[in-house]
Amino acid sequence: MANAKMRIGILSAGGDCPGINAAIRGVGKTAIVEYEMDVLGIVNGFSGLLEKDTIELNEQILSGILTLGGTILGTSRLKPYKVVEGEDPAAKPELIKKNYREMGLDALVCIGGNGTQKTANLLSKEGLNVIGVPKTIDNDVWGTDVTFGFDTAVYIATDAIDRLHTTANSHKRVMVIEVMGHQAGWIGLYSGIAGGGDVILIPEIPYSLDTVAECLMERSRKKKPYSIVVVAEGIEKMAKKSAGAFIAKQIRKITGLETRETILGYIQRGGSPTPADRILATRFGASAARLIHEQNFGTMVALKGGVITSVPLDEVGGKIRLIQPDNPLVEKGRHMGVCFGDCCL
Ligand code: F6P
Repeated sequence: MANAKMRIGILSAGGDCPGINAAIRGVGKTAIVEYEMDVLGIVNGFSGLLEKDTIELNEQILSGILTLGGTILGTSRLKPYKVVEGEDPAAKPELIKKNYREMGLDALVCIGGNGTQKTANLLSKEGLNVIGVPKTIDNDVWGTDVTFGFDTAVYIATDAIDRLHTTANSHKRVMVIEVMGHQAGWIGLYSGIAGGGDVILIPEIPYSLDTVAECLMERSRKKKPYSIVVVAEGIEKMAKKSAGAFIAKQIRKITGLETRETILGYIQRGGSPTPADRILATRFGASAARLIHEQNFGTMVALKGGVITSVPLDEVGGKIRLIQPDNPLVEKGRHMGVCFGDCCL
């Protein structure tokens, strides 16, 4: 294989995020320019591998996509290893292996979050030459200090919190803002600290409504005219509608303070990536192409201590990176009087 021209496939799977196109461009351009590979885009994640839905990626197609949000390849949440009643569990993986061979692929780059890296690992164990590229606004992929998409989401959420400050101050209200993050509260923690949130509730720190209420009443007694409460969507499993709406209702009920909620939603996932995300996605993409050239398969590119490296997919698959109780930003917040709902200063 050493001298033969390699043919590689790239797919994006799972929820989209800003920076995927920068990563596709990073893989594709490096593969074409540096390593003289042929590059095939697989459409709509693992669905495209099942249906052989592909587009040839050349330098023209890869130009002008660096700043674009979303993914030019499309994405889907299809999980080929998910057991579906009445279906042979081996059918989809077998078809993927067959199509991989028929499409003449020598390697496959899977851009995605935890679910995608898990699938990537299983395909790698079946003998495909797979490289993982971590992405998600949630920043919860195991094995890397950060994922692209996160910086942009934090920027958007912080901007929203900044805007809530002025209207909260005018009306002397409690403003609750719900940001994304089902299991991991990275967006809540970072945008909460960057936006000067008074209360930050994240899934990793169990909260008590009485503590939150006491913190807000104490601010009111100290003549602080308004308060900002940042809530990760995953803190309240019992909330029928949304965690933000639930928390706002409870604050109103317990404290009597005038309270409003804002659910930020998919705005956090859309639009152009920040420069930091463009750079990280480009570095990840270029490194993925290099790993293929070096035939270092079954690995995921990662950032550790500011340095690009790779980790075995086997270590990553099925895990999630949560905020630890001794996280320095949580500690800094506590020392400045931020309430995380578990104790009140
Ligand atoms: O991309 C991660 C994430 O944004 C989660 O925080 C969020 O709950 C989820 O995706 C929702 O995405 P979808 O509705 O596309 O499944």
